[in-house]
Amino acid sequence: MDWKILNIKNSYLEKISRAKSLNELDEIYLTLFGKSGEITLLPKNFSELSKEDLSKIGPLFNRVKTELEKAIDDRREKVRESVYKQLKDEELELEEGSIKKRKGHLHPITALNEEIANLGKKIGFQQFSAPHIDSDYYNFEGLNIPYGHPARDLWDTLYIDHPEKYGFKEGQLLLRTHTSNAQIRIMKELKLPIRIMVIDRLFRFENLDARHEHTFDQFEIVYVDKGVSMANLQYLSEYFLKHIFGKDIKVRLRPKYYPFVEPGAGVDGECIFCKGKGCKICGGVGWLELAGAGMIHPFVLNMGGIDPEKYSGLAWGFGPFRMAMLKYGVEDIRLFNSGDLRFLERF
Ligand code: DAH
Repeated sequence: MDWKILNIKNSYLEKISRAKSLNELDEIYLTLFGKSGEITLLPKNFSELSKEDLSKIGPLFNRVKTELEKAIDDRREKVRESVYKQLKDEELELEEGSIKKRKGHLHPITALNEEIANLGKKIGFQQFSAPHIDSDYYNFEGLNIPYGHPARDLWDTLYIDHPEKYGFKEGQLLLRTHTSNAQIRIMKELKLPIRIMVIDRLFRFENLDARHEHTFDQFEIVYVDKGVSMANLQYLSEYFLKHIFGKDIKVRLRPKYYPFVEPGAGVDGECIFCKGKGCKICGGVGWLELAGAGMIHPFVLNMGGIDPEKYSGLAWGFGPFRMAMLKYGVEDIRLFNSGDLRFLERF
């Protein structure tokens, strides 16, 4: 019996020392200590031993059993250590490897907006902001766009909650469709003369395509003082457009309807692609509409608490997304909000 025990001990100590994985050690453990493991089954034969033999074999068996258990535990520890070391080496390799450092830059619209804000600041305009979620009054009614008037169709609007719930009252909430929702606040809150600019986000219930977005920006100027005229409008149009597109660009004002200005104007720049000859992009006319503008309507001045007999004002606005499309040759307006790095890295 004793040689049998010593045999098991020697052959398994050898196997344990060569084991390379925790799985292998689990298997060895089972063949020794499992339900029908070699060590488990040994004591079954002890009943056949004489008292004298048992007093020797018993302690030997216990020692071997403990020794094997300890050998398996120790080997487990070693295998674990070598696995950790391997992982650590791999980790180091990763650190030394090729994670490229990339330097980011401002989004093209953010950069253009900053440029425009600096241009405005240089000639004395200060920034003002108005809520993105606003009442029907500031976005429409107060700007001479009454409920039910066909002019409302110029703006595809995202109303908040169902209009009937508010009985189409002035308090109906909506996502502002233009930065012009700042106009009445500007006039009510600030002292005359007023030189203000707004550059911010707005929202439309649009059918999306290459030229239409639901979320984009507008830049808008409100200038109110004694004797402000269309001449100031022409000057401001040239000042901004020449800085953005180059000083050679010709700028013209053309009559256009906006409910909150009278007279209203479309501000055209000579087509930057064909230099006025007429091409696909300008539809053959040689001009591109770049901004909307006009003399603030007396109704709106009144809403803002300003006497239209004493003061006059102008409002002037454009969309930086459209400007950026023309300036950088961007084919699809949806690219700006896409977050697509392949697009952003073009700038
Ligand atoms: N708010 C107009 C729009 O969303 C743009 C605009 C037109 C602004 C004429 C103005 C303006 O200040 O005078 O289409």
